[in-house]
Amino acid sequence: MPHKFDVTNAGILDSPERIQFLNPDSILDKVRPGREIVLADLGCGTGYFTIPASRRVKKVFAIDIQKGMLDILGEKIKKQKLTNIEAILSEEASIPLPGNSVDVLLMVNVFHEFEDRGSILKEGKRILSVNGRLVIVDWKKMEMELGPPVEERLTAEEVISICKNNGFEVREQSDAGLYNYLLIFGKAGIKKKLEEMPADRYFHGKRKQYSDIDDLIRKTVEDRRKRRMQQTGR
Ligand SMILES: C[S@@+](CC[C@H](N)C(=O)[O-])C[C@H]1O[C@@H](n2cnc3c(N)ncnc32)[C@H](O)[C@@H]1O
Repeated sequence: MPHKFDVTNAGILDSPERIQFLNPDSILDKVRPGREIVLADLGCGTGYFTIPASRRVKKVFAIDIQKGMLDILGEKIKKQKLTNIEAILSEEASIPLPGNSVDVLLMVNVFHEFEDRGSILKEGKRILSVNGRLVIVDWKKMEMELGPPVEERLTAEEVISICKNNGFEVREQSDAGLYNYLLIFGKAGIKKKLEEMPADRYFHGKRKQYSDIDDLIRKTVEDRRKRRMQQTGR
């Protein structure tokens, strides 16, 4: 069973050196969350990602199974007078949010800690909107002085395979600093669904809902529009 990062070590999560190898703003630049979106930071810890994310989006749900972590985050929220973060205590295999309520589900250095990855991914699918994105940052599986024991880590390919088996398709893969990788997933089959969706309904009826569409989906829609222009001249 993978071990949990204990709240007694919470100081490590906020150590000033951390930014040198895991910079939340550089990672959020790659994720490009829209201003109007709702983001959930699952396994938020002391809010190392929650707080920078809250400055970019409409609302952040900061979720963790350790109350001690949320207490530390609560102090920061108060001190910095942040108004768009809701801290939520969760249980191991569930995410206490309504269905279709989140546009980006962020998991930083927590995927390898989950006891039941299948259940968490099922919950992830449930709470994510149709175009929602699952963003996983985790430790590279190699020996290094920092982070969890190498035998508890997963390679990016292992994470991709687990997510694929649970209804997600990988859209982007890159390094997230020296020691971590970044994976961005969408719900499997969404591209096909959008292609089947009439362009007019998409553009006029659903525009707001899809304000955070990623490049892949945006391209799909543009292609549809071009095709329609060619066919109808409008
Ligand atoms: C290594 S810390 C990372 C914290 C934060 N994401 C960061 O990068 O600073 C992992 C956090 O995930 C939480 N966690 C572990 N399993 C979880 C689960 N099943 N659901 C929610 N949180 C979980 C732990 O309590 C811990 O706070």
